[in-house]
Amino acid sequence: MCGIIGCAGRGGETLDTLMHGLSKLEYRGYDSAGVALSNEELSVRRKAGTLDALRSSLSSQTLLDGDDSTVEGDGLHDNPVGIGHTRWSTHGPPTDDNAHPHRDCTGRVAVIHNGIIENYQELRDELAAEGHEFHSDTDTEVVPHLIETALDTGMAPEEAVRSAVSRLEGAYAICAVIAGVDRVFAARNDSPLVLGISEEAYFLASDVPAFREFTDQVVYLDDGEFAVINKNGWRVTDVDGTVVEKSINTIEWDPEETGKSGYDHYMLKEIHEQPRALRQCLQGRVDELGGEVLLDELGALDPDTVQFVACGTSYHAALYGAQLFRSIGIPAQAFIASEYATSVPPIENDLVIGVTQSGETADTLSALREARHRGAKTLAVTNVVGSTAARECDEALYIRAGPEIGVAATKTFASQLITLSLLTLHLNGSEDDRDVIAGLRDLPSNVQAILDDTNAREIAEEYHDSDAYFFIGRGLHHPVALEGALKFKEISYEHAEGFPAGELKHGPLALVTENTPVFAVVTGDGEQARKTIGNVKEVEARDAPVIAVTDGASDVERYADHVLEIPESTPRTAALLANVQLQLVSYHAAALLDRPIDKPRNLAKSVTVE
Ligand code: AGP
Repeated sequence: MCGIIGCAGRGGETLDTLMHGLSKLEYRGYDSAGVALSNEELSVRRKAGTLDALRSSLSSQTLLDGDDSTVEGDGLHDNPVGIGHTRWSTHGPPTDDNAHPHRDCTGRVAVIHNGIIENYQELRDELAAEGHEFHSDTDTEVVPHLIETALDTGMAPEEAVRSAVSRLEGAYAICAVIAGVDRVFAARNDSPLVLGISEEAYFLASDVPAFREFTDQVVYLDDGEFAVINKNGWRVTDVDGTVVEKSINTIEWDPEETGKSGYDHYMLKEIHEQPRALRQCLQGRVDELGGEVLLDELGALDPDTVQFVACGTSYHAALYGAQLFRSIGIPAQAFIASEYATSVPPIENDLVIGVTQSGETADTLSALREARHRGAKTLAVTNVVGSTAARECDEALYIRAGPEIGVAATKTFASQLITLSLLTLHLNGSEDDRDVIAGLRDLPSNVQAILDDTNAREIAEEYHDSDAYFFIGRGLHHPVALEGALKFKEISYEHAEGFPAGELKHGPLALVTENTPVFAVVTGDGEQARKTIGNVKEVEARDAPVIAVTDGASDVERYADHVLEIPESTPRTAALLANVQLQLVSYHAAALLDRPIDKPRNLAKSVTVE
């Protein structure tokens, strides 16, 4: 949800380092932002709005000149420690006062937080009764006051932070600084937090891109752990202060992978990265001569049934995966993760697969925990090595898409589909797999062919001022229809819905008019294509413009106003190819409507609250 960063050892570059880190974390929240620098004195600056608003306020005045900031002192010191935050509001609107960092009564302590403190009202009442004054609507503000109280009892700073955090219930990744103390303190429970280690400086952040430019060495913190960094080193402890031995991991992707590489938006860049992402996903996993798929990272899996839990785009990938599992004779069902716990189906030798790009989505983690609690084996299909889902599940299968910054999931959806496809091939091991495997091999170049020659922009130009947009498809194209609509609505802010093609006539057809384009995904020339063409005719009879996404195998073109072509392929790869065309239409429509494509309003990349 929110993005947090802390650093020590960057000397005069500390503020720039924080601002750079926040720019890499802005995908996690962008309704307000703030920074604090601490040495003998503590200086804080916070602003509602995007990071640019904070940046301008910093360039117009030095941090220490701010009206809301300085405790004492007359300037930045040589080597301050610092923390920074970019917010996605949960408690209180995005205002200057609600922006982080939050301070205690004395102005000595500053805290940033990602997550939700569930018992904050109780703590706030208690602290207010003791005379503490609050200036925001946030749950976070109780934390600096708790630290203040602990410091007042004579505790050392590190102990005071641990003591304050031990009072919290809920989800948090927290960083705190205290005037006169050359350290950043951090704690984690149910919200992501990683520690970065370079030769001269140390970092804490919600996600690796925040400090990837400075180091590829990271430590993943676990729930219940505390970390301390200063310019000389780092330490991780448990709640009692006992040192916890942690392993240091090396990040394999390049810092450049988190830049825009000349594209106007991350989303467009990430759409164009799909051929490479798919190659990475397939690499070393497919034995074409032997006609088999080998996923060496997985232990033995022999489930009687499979349940998927996921949210949003990942749920659409899960719907696709469930169909593939059923096609190899394993009963499978996809659940929206936030609904899973309300009616968990019976679990008996079940495999529960959490599909989650970030590996940090609270709804999905909660469903996976419920499944584990009931005795199921769990598997995380995720993009983020070391993410909570990857660490908590019995098994992890990585989609290898590389970092995705745009809030709208694009390349990770493609990589999720292919990873789930590989998983079913790995479990199936049948002779018939050879054609499917050949289809997978051709997939990256087929996606490239679409990217090199698409009329998606013309379609967007023609229809971007319509009343609403509908997306239909059957079988494996149903999840693509849902995903096409989700992408369209989240970045264009236009009304868009996806339906199973056959369902249109059972209600939604009432909405169809000459001003509601219908995108129909029709590939192959089999029974499903024939039936979807029947649904297209129903739409056409209501004068709605039809845009067929097709490989040309059927005669759907006869009934369509426009065609978005995809190369001939296998049914399971056709779904992915059709989705690429729909991603491009959404992107161009949103660009024509001048929407903030990479940071759609009200949304965040990683949703770490339930
Ligand atoms: C879609 O573009 C969104 N980014 C969103 O639906 C996302 O897929 C969902 O929040 C789940 O995220 P996850 O894959 O990180 O769990």
